[in-house]
Amino acid sequence: MIQPEMINPAMRSKLLRPASSFEEAEALSRQLSLLNRAQLARLIALATPETEASLRAAAGWLREHYYGRKVYLRGLIEFSNVCRKDCFYCGIRRSNRNVRRYRLTEAQILACCRQGYELGYRTFVLQSGEDPAFTPLRLAWLVAEIRRRYPDVALTLSVGELAAADYRLLRQAGADRYLLRHETADAAHFASLHPAGQTLQQRQTCLRELGAAGFQVGAGFMVGTPGQTADCLAQDLLFLKELQPQMIGIGPFIPQQDTPLGQDQPGHLRQTLLLLSLLRLLFPKALLPATTAVGTLHPLGRELALGAGANVLMPNLSPQEYRIDYALYDNKICTGDEAAECRVCLQKRVESAGYTIDTGRGDPVDWEETGS
Ligand code: SAM
Ligand code: SF4
Ligand code: FES
Repeated sequence: MIQPEMINPAMRSKLLRPASSFEEAEALSRQLSLLNRAQLARLIALATPETEASLRAAAGWLREHYYGRKVYLRGLIEFSNVCRKDCFYCGIRRSNRNVRRYRLTEAQILACCRQGYELGYRTFVLQSGEDPAFTPLRLAWLVAEIRRRYPDVALTLSVGELAAADYRLLRQAGADRYLLRHETADAAHFASLHPAGQTLQQRQTCLRELGAAGFQVGAGFMVGTPGQTADCLAQDLLFLKELQPQMIGIGPFIPQQDTPLGQDQPGHLRQTLLLLSLLRLLFPKALLPATTAVGTLHPLGRELALGAGANVLMPNLSPQEYRIDYALYDNKICTGDEAAECRVCLQKRVESAGYTIDTGRGDPVDWEETGS
């Protein structure tokens, strides 16, 4: 059983009993934000089901206060699985020869957007490996074209590490948001998950440059990567506190059989949910997705993630015939389903969990467009 006084005496009562008001939850949130690395690590390592329930209840109050019961949808278009990078955990890494590589054409991507718009999505996320064929100029054209056709949607990119000037170009072309998980904020752990030449420092520099370019920034990490410790996760939380991103994407690591980490164990559902609650408490206004990975780990993973503090879902809009080839990890859900099927499925899941789908752009509650 965790001894809350080991963490911080003032948190004792707050961790022993679930918050019963927004004010109590806010007080816990303030206490948590004062914890140092060792204290955060201890909280993560020693959390019991009771502590988790307290954190979950408080996260629920904050989420309710800032976002109500709303869940925002982001239509995800996985437009290329070609990647020049070689992350050890990822099924579409360059060295994996068992991948059938594909690249959607501009016309196919625009058709996905049309279908997404008709399904009511007002955010599109364009995601890919780091595909040299999609140069920044080509991406900028695509962004501008989507922006011209659908002025009322938010456009998110997730295409990896680029030069600062390229980020500015894409922002000027009309992209609003950018997702680039830092993966882990522990440099040694980062080095154990990536080949030489891919560094945490570079990843973190990109995140800062994205913010400077005027993007709403999404950072994040995997939970349960081989060798990850509670101290690594504490460093993730502290790095995020420094970065203050608008979105934080976390999900369990899930092995993919053709990768160097293919025989390792997946991350744990409980720890993923605990971290979602901690993130909601440390970043009350953040947009937190209930990821496809958590839905892959457990049939009700996404519903549980919503209950832990998440408020975003990212249904797949990619053409069905290519989905199976965007196999970041094994047994990924939704690969056999059409976009319209996922839309209906999500509606049911969200409502059965007691939430409502919001069809707006889903900007952060205090976001002000700077136009930079
Ligand atoms: N290439 C871009 C990048 O790396 O930022 C965007 C696409 S990448 C596939 C998106 C995310 O997938 C990564 O940030 C990583 O966290 C996640 N991912 C990759 N392999 C995974 C695995 N085996 N289990 C869980 N998540 C994984
Ligand atoms: Fe490429 Fe992204 Fe996968 Fe790394 S995580 S191999 S950059 S697609
Ligand atoms: Fe895709 Fe349920 S969300 S089938």
